[in-house]
Amino acid sequence: MIEPRISAGIAVVTGASSGIGEAAAMQLSTAGFHLVLIARRRDRLEKLQSKLRKSGGQADFICSDLSQEESYSAIADQVKNIGAPIDVLLNNAGFGWYGFGDEMPWSVARSMLAVNVQAVTGLTLQFLPEMKRVNHGHIINVGSIVASIPSQGVALYGATKAFLDGFTTSLYRELVNTGVNVSVVRTGAVRTPFFKKVAAHSGSGVIPFQRLAVQPETVARRILELLKKPKRAIYVPRLLWVVPWIEMYFGWFIDRLGPRLLRSSRF
Ligand SMILES: NC(=O)c1ccc[n+]([C@@H]2O[C@H](COP(=O)([O-])OP(=O)(O)OC[C@H]3O[C@@H](n4cnc5c(N)ncnc54)[C@H](OP(=O)(O)O)[C@@H]3O)[C@@H](O)[C@H]2O)c1
Repeated sequence: MIEPRISAGIAVVTGASSGIGEAAAMQLSTAGFHLVLIARRRDRLEKLQSKLRKSGGQADFICSDLSQEESYSAIADQVKNIGAPIDVLLNNAGFGWYGFGDEMPWSVARSMLAVNVQAVTGLTLQFLPEMKRVNHGHIINVGSIVASIPSQGVALYGATKAFLDGFTTSLYRELVNTGVNVSVVRTGAVRTPFFKKVAAHSGSGVIPFQRLAVQPETVARRILELLKKPKRAIYVPRLLWVVPWIEMYFGWFIDRLGPRLLRSSRF
């Protein structure tokens, strides 16, 4: 599946089979990166690979279930075989679940922890030492604004994204002046299959804020900007920088609304 060859820098994108990952892969390819696309759905990865190649880009794919820890070293080995330096690791794969925290099946919780937290950690540990050795590289973690405003209905999902905030900030501080950057993208709602999957998974109805969703291409564009001008964290849309302040000053009020904001929400 992956042919060894010497090329421009590599961008590894997890969750490249749809949504933000797919949009980011297309824009990274246009920017000249050699893409390594990762997800479980082979047909979608094959289709994207051929699209990128047809438009003159270099792309390989690895079908991998990121909930399985053996996949992290296997991915790193296959990427090494390509023979080009790794420039970008976009930790984007993830999924959500909506409903009362105590009603979440353990099988879903375990899988969410594995994909949203363990895979990000595992792949970072695989690629970061080499980036540090060559003083070059950028790890971008796709977080969520719910990490800044822990909300009813997304207890574990929000906590996995809060992990990304903390992990990113610590690494960013450790890596100052090394030439390696780590960033988190705190995005609000994005128009991708994410919400449909959440609804199907959790049997929920309308999930709040879907109607305010931005296009995945907007998030991808901001990721490209981040590569040019590295920062520890960005908000998409930009206006969401107010959210942590809302939590800090009005969290007490959200506490009082309690379960009224859950499942009954309509926007
Ligand atoms: N959409 C939003 O409103 C929103 C808001 C904030 C943050 N985010 C975050 O953005 C990221 C991308 O989500 P999206 O909106 O683009 O949703 P999406 O279209 O559903 O994409 C999710 C991607 O993750 C991959 N994935 C899920 N489980 C996987 C596993 N076990 N192994 C490998 N790949 C796996 C999926 O690929 P396969 O199914 O082919 O494996 C898919 O490519 C997620 O981390 C999500 O939490 C989304």
